[in-house]
Amino acid sequence: MELPPYLRQAVDRALSGVTLNELAAAVAGLSQRYREEGREGPAFVASDRDVLAYLATRLPATFAAIRASFAAIASAHPDFAPRTLLDIGAGPGTALWAATDCWPSLAEVALVEASPIFRACGERLAAEAALPKITWRTADVARDSTESTPRDLVTIAYVLNELPPEVRQAVLARAWRATADTLVVIEPGTPAGWQRILAARRQLIEAGGHMIAPCPHAQACPLAPPDWCHFAERVARSRLHRQAKGAEIPWEDEKFSYIAVSRQPTPDPTAARIIARPRKASGRVTLKLCRPDGSAGEQLFSRRNGKLYKRASRSDWGSSL
Ligand SMILES: C[S@@+](CC[C@H](N)C(=O)[O-])C[C@H]1O[C@@H](n2cnc3c(N)ncnc32)[C@H](O)[C@@H]1O
Repeated sequence: MELPPYLRQAVDRALSGVTLNELAAAVAGLSQRYREEGREGPAFVASDRDVLAYLATRLPATFAAIRASFAAIASAHPDFAPRTLLDIGAGPGTALWAATDCWPSLAEVALVEASPIFRACGERLAAEAALPKITWRTADVARDSTESTPRDLVTIAYVLNELPPEVRQAVLARAWRATADTLVVIEPGTPAGWQRILAARRQLIEAGGHMIAPCPHAQACPLAPPDWCHFAERVARSRLHRQAKGAEIPWEDEKFSYIAVSRQPTPDPTAARIIARPRKASGRVTLKLCRPDGSAGEQLFSRRNGKLYKRASRSDWGSSL
């Protein structure tokens, strides 16, 4: 997946004044902090250089994960046309760009962010773009209440990890109260990220939410460690991204875990979710499925399955069947 052209250009402009050495040092520091998953606090990104490192190396990946989660919502709820978005822990405004790309219906966006440096960067990126009406608010969501007006779509992407564990539940409860229709929570696709998603899933189902993606049911998750539910998006690496990381491969796979919960039941609760990369061989494909009856497991589809095989062989990790 690639960034939309306007965002790509705005990111390239933001990065044009920085030397490769400075960027490489900032990227190394940022990667180290993100690798130490489990440490808390919003100080992951502490300087202008950190924000530039984020734009070069993390924004394309978090954009891809958020956009893929939105695609799953749009596929489950084709009539969903959000007019308003609230993004909690907006960073440089990643969800704004992904939502605009997915839903042209979007008219108003509220972005809440603790870091003035991130906010200033997000404002610069969006400055001259044709985007919905945007309102930024600098706030610490661990302490301050979220917006009071419910929004059609609410997002919390790659943020729970940066919040102290004892406030996550209250932040999610406030986010759900601020949700008129759909709440999306996204975390890195690690076992720890999945545990945070599982806790959010339990909390939101108890609060009356309907699962729309990725789970095709609201029963207990059928996966057990060391397995974990996650998805992957292939992200194109720009030349600068490769140089800053000293990497040669022109892409990377961003792993993420997520849930999308709606106040409306899903119209097609019969579709299973493909929860691993399909294993394809001549005339057959094996899919790992999470099924609407609450079970999960591998299923082989061969030419004998006719149309179902055709659909299975064309489908991908993360899509529904
Ligand atoms: C990894 S970034 C994710 C940014 C964006 N959502 C994305 O997916 O690209 C985490 C963001 O959450 C923000 N954040 C962390 N703790 C916060 C808090 N207590 N209140 C508000 N924002 C917070 C950080 O400043 C940062 O911008």
